[in-house]
Amino acid sequence: MTAETPSRPGSDGRIVRAAGRIRGTVRVPGDKSISHRAALFNAVADGRATVTNFSPGADCAATLACLRQLGVHVTTTGDRVEVHGVGSGGLAEAADVLDCANSGTTMRLLCGLLAGAGVFAVLTGDASLRRRPMARVAEPLRGMGAAIAGRDQGRLPPLAISPSPRLHGIERPLAVASAQVKSALLLAGLAADGATTVVEPARSRDHTERLLSAMGADVQVAGSRITIQPGATLRATDVAVPGDFSSAAFWLVLGCLHPNAHVRITDVGLNPTRTGLLEVLRAMGGNVHVENASEVAGEPVGDLVAESSALRGTTVAGALVPLAIDELPLIALLGLFAEGETVVRDAAELRLKESDRIAAAAEGLRALGGDLVATADGWRITGGARLEPARVSSHGDHRIAMLLALAGALGAGAEVTGADTVSVSYPAFWQTLDQVAA
Ligand code: S3P
Repeated sequence: MTAETPSRPGSDGRIVRAAGRIRGTVRVPGDKSISHRAALFNAVADGRATVTNFSPGADCAATLACLRQLGVHVTTTGDRVEVHGVGSGGLAEAADVLDCANSGTTMRLLCGLLAGAGVFAVLTGDASLRRRPMARVAEPLRGMGAAIAGRDQGRLPPLAISPSPRLHGIERPLAVASAQVKSALLLAGLAADGATTVVEPARSRDHTERLLSAMGADVQVAGSRITIQPGATLRATDVAVPGDFSSAAFWLVLGCLHPNAHVRITDVGLNPTRTGLLEVLRAMGGNVHVENASEVAGEPVGDLVAESSALRGTTVAGALVPLAIDELPLIALLGLFAEGETVVRDAAELRLKESDRIAAAAEGLRALGGDLVATADGWRITGGARLEPARVSSHGDHRIAMLLALAGALGAGAEVTGADTVSVSYPAFWQTLDQVAA
């Protein structure tokens, strides 16, 4: 295909044209991580809570569907969700398998919540989720006394959780910084007979600590040690979900990389355990700034403004990796347009996401003319890209679909196959791209 005469896309394909300019003010969907937590924690709280600006993505819909199957009354009106908490120990046994769809957060946090819930449950998901490692949650939960079986000797979904007489508090160092694993252990810790401490190798997103504390749990954070005391009765708590930084990230990057760009993204969550990309952009010389900073429901929020920038290469490694984990493929794209070399390393975790994101990003960006190589734990990217049109695959991964769409808009166009997968986190992505790249 060429940018001028695009071929007809398949039923699940999207043609992206080279963008002449990038302009506009964008509202992104509610934060996916906070939406999951607001629903799950309020489900086992005492009382009724309202969550506004709830994520419209399929991942969070999967969480709500699972909670309904567990006997929680949940109503939705647009992006407003009402959760009628059943209280601790109040979850009912589901009549059927719980389908977590594409959502690792749903499965891993539910494992923690169900480990001490006294009900039998089977958790499954789509083909991608059924390939993702679950030993990282199942094994420490077993160490607390949970009964969790699964495929491949308990390592892969479907997982079956049986009632266990009692959970014990543990102290557990984590091999990788993972907010999903940390959250599962803290949730199980609520139902244990003593304190549970998780020690992270580097800080990961802390929405669980913030929200559980706000709901009345005793959570102590001392550097990389997070300790929860059992037995708290969670208070139902209304949550106004901020815009998703990981969705805003696409427009930030497009704004910096396009030579004729000015874009504002409003009401975005700016929790410092999420905004590693801002640090990376600043190190690269990106023209980004925060306006109207405030705090909403215990989370920092603000508007982000991005403009055309001349970028230089950088290295992203170590403690910065978990703070930008979902944005790392976008850093590969930034590197293609920067001066010099950009290196991302210490990010082998990316191979275990919705797709192998190291391989999928390298394949798509190389097909579009980018000069980068995949390494075991990241990429080496050479700047000065001159992109060309190509048909590229999302590999069924929402963030890869959006990454490759941006590469097409910044280069000479693209056809992205498997485009509908954006609905996992950002159903309006394609409309917004049409608006800002008009
Ligand atoms: C998430 C944690 C991260 C992230 C995922 C959402 C969460 O996963 O990649 O998109 O909401 O806790 P890991 O905990 O596996 O790093």
